[in-house]
This record gives sequence, C-alpha cells and structure tokens, in this order.
Amino acid sequence: MKLVVTAGPTREPIDPVRFLSNRSSGKMGYAIASAAIEANHEVVLISGPVNLAPPAGAKLVNVITADEMHAAVHEAVHDCDVLVMCAAVSDYKPAHVAEQKIKKRDEKFSLELIPARDILKSLPPSRNFFAVGFAAETNDVEEHARAKLATKNCDMMVANDLSDPDIGMESDENAVTIFSRGGESETISRTSKKIIARELVKIICRNAKKVLTKKF
Ligand code: C5P
Repeated sequence: MKLVVTAGPTREPIDPVRFLSNRSSGKMGYAIASAAIEANHEVVLISGPVNLAPPAGAKLVNVITADEMHAAVHEAVHDCDVLVMCAAVSDYKPAHVAEQKIKKRDEKFSLELIPARDILKSLPPSRNFFAVGFAAETNDVEEHARAKLATKNCDMMVANDLSDPDIGMESDENAVTIFSRGGESETISRTSKKIIARELVKIICRNAKKVLTKKF
C-alpha cells in the first residue's frame, strides 16, 4: 500500500524572527513511517520542522507552515491508499505577518489570530483513500476523539491522553485508543512509540483494505 504520513509541528510566522508553534517532536509520525516501511509499504513522509533523521526509504517532503502542509498533503494524496495525519498542525495563525521584526514596547501587545485551514476537513468526502486523524486531548478523550472522527470526516481517529505528562508529546512512549467509524474502539496500552507504530500500521492497513475498493 502507499501511505502518506504527516509528522511534527507546523510553524506560523509572526515576523521574520518569531513564530507560533507547539511541542510536537515528530517522534510518533516518524515511528509510523518507519513501521510502514518495515512492513514493505511505500511511504511519503510530510514533515514539519523536527530534529529527527528521516527513515531510510521514505520519500521526505519538508514543510514549515500549515498552508505548506495543506498543499503537500493535497498533492500527495492523489495516488495514495492511506493518509495518516499525525502532524500537530497549527489550529491558528497570525492574521498578519510583519515584514520587519516587531519592536519591543512598554505596553500590552496582542496578536490577532485567524483559524488555519483544517487539512482533514478540506479533503474530499468521497475519496479512494483511508484517512486517519490524531486527537491529542487533555480531558474527555473519548468524547472529543469521537466528535473529531465525525467532524473531520476521518475513517479512524487515534486518541492520546495528554493528561499524563510522562507519555505523548515529546516522550518516547505513548498510549492510544483507536476509534473507528462503526463505533468500535481498540486500546494500545503504554509502550514505546516504536511498538505503538507497528500495531497502528497493522490496524490501519487491515481496516483500509476492508473499505477500499482497490485490490491488494
Ligand atoms: O482539531 P485538532 O487540531 O485537535 O485535530 C487534530 C487532527 O486534525 C490531527 O490529525 C491533525 O493532523 C489534523 N489537523 C488538520 N489541519 C489543521 C489542524 C489539525 O488536518 N489545521
């Protein structure tokens, strides 16, 4: 199968030297890309800025902003079987990007933010690839993950609970629950992101094969 995997954060510029971003390390997405290659799948890895070596064998596409990731995903999904949106794409971006460095002043400063385009929501509802989203939640994990599964028009939503600071973002370990459209769920308990990635690739590809009309 051909998988498009997104990983890492995006950066939204404020001025030439500042940006808005998040704590995503890219470790989960890179582990999924590696596990997919290990399982003999073809992988396009669309990555935000991270400090990780790309897995050998993946076609790497580097992006910085949410808009760049949006364009790269739309181009890559044309001929893919599975899209795994593991990247922590910015939800907001500055309404204006200053051309010159913003000067410090002794007064309050507010930054106007506008929503960044939601990549998953922008995908065609009728398509011939399987779409997997990620939901990083600090509370009411199942409720939020199931809501995202529906509103983001995904086939599967992988949720991780960020209320435990030892796992998830930046960590080498994770614990996830996978929610499917039919209402089923499956939990992978706390373990290394490498092992979680192998399990996820198996579960995703097994379910993708069931719904895709192509023959594998
Ligand atoms: O809404 P939230 O950011 O929590 O949703 C997370 C999921 O949506 C992830 O799969 C992420 O890659 C995707 N996302 C997106 N476009 C955005 C923000 C998030 O596709 N602008």
